[in-house]
Amino acid sequence: EASDPDLVERARVAKEKLGSSVFILGHHYQRDEVIQFADVTGDSFKLAQQAAARPDAEHIVFCGVHFMAESADILTKDHQKVILPDLAAGCSMADMAVLTQVEKAWELFTDLGIAGDTVPVTYMNSSADIKGFVGRNGGVVCTSSNAQRALEWSYAKGSKVFFLPDQHLGRNTVVREMGFSLDDCVLYNPHKPNGGLTDEQLRDAKIILWKGHCSVHGRFSLDCVTEVRERVPGVNVLVHPECKHEVVEAADYVGSTEYIIKALDAAEPGSSWAIGTELNLVRRLANAHPDKNVMFLDRTVCYCSTMNRIDLPHLIWTLEELVAGRVPNQITVDGDTAHYARVALDQMLALP
Ligand code: 13P
Ligand code: SF4
Repeated sequence: EASDPDLVERARVAKEKLGSSVFILGHHYQRDEVIQFADVTGDSFKLAQQAAARPDAEHIVFCGVHFMAESADILTKDHQKVILPDLAAGCSMADMAVLTQVEKAWELFTDLGIAGDTVPVTYMNSSADIKGFVGRNGGVVCTSSNAQRALEWSYAKGSKVFFLPDQHLGRNTVVREMGFSLDDCVLYNPHKPNGGLTDEQLRDAKIILWKGHCSVHGRFSLDCVTEVRERVPGVNVLVHPECKHEVVEAADYVGSTEYIIKALDAAEPGSSWAIGTELNLVRRLANAHPDKNVMFLDRTVCYCSTMNRIDLPHLIWTLEELVAGRVPNQITVDGDTAHYARVALDQMLALP
């Protein structure tokens, strides 16, 4: 959909007035109308690196979701302010792990005598609180582009890994990339006593997966893969690792949003691609590659509703507030949490 030219012009004027004092980051799942104003676009890992790479910019406008803006606040200098154009842009997966629940699980592991051997790992898609917990307990943050390295580092350090909050990224990484079996993993359900597991299961498990998932990627099913393979001979199925294990197993290629973009850039003209990730990105890829047959893996439409909350009017409002000398929707993480979350984020950035 084309954006309203008057709105585009307002955003352009405001951005120009702000000059290099403002740096706009855009996640690949953002709408086209927003992404056109991003100084840098990226996956979660690249955006975390980029947020830290512009210490001269006083204001970082983060077009993405809350946990990304929190991480940017942690990684940027004290004088820099991180802004989220709509405070309701959260992430349902990140909300599935609450600090009190995670601390309760850790107490249980302590009582069972397994906490000392367990290294906690959290996916970037978690609150700063959870990252702080992980940093306090010797663990690391990961994103979909470095999950294997983070998990290898963690498993080498302990003899057990506690992976938060995305069960699918955790399972897909250890089973597909690291040679673990499905039986090496158990699923910890925070809503059940003892996580829904026996003490023995917890003691024997190599990988304890938190029962969280992404509601967008959870919609892709094995049927979608079977159906598209029947309908489009020779199709390449390319999915994000937040998809269910059976979907990832049936796919041809798996990777982060940045990986997906690069795979399409390298694809042969005339080739067909069914992509299992958020729709704004798939649409953009289809438009960028008219010489290739790019389609959405599911037949139904699915956007990430919280990513989509950041629209052009919210971006304009943010920029015009800044022009007026006000700082709207600043995201800040308190000192102690930020300190330990930074330990876990720095550990990720230092992974070999
Ligand atoms: P990446 O961009 O790191 O692949 O993450 C996808 C995602 O779900 C962000 O919320
Ligand atoms: Fe969260 Fe999924 Fe949306 Fe990513 S796509 S922000 S994991 S709900």
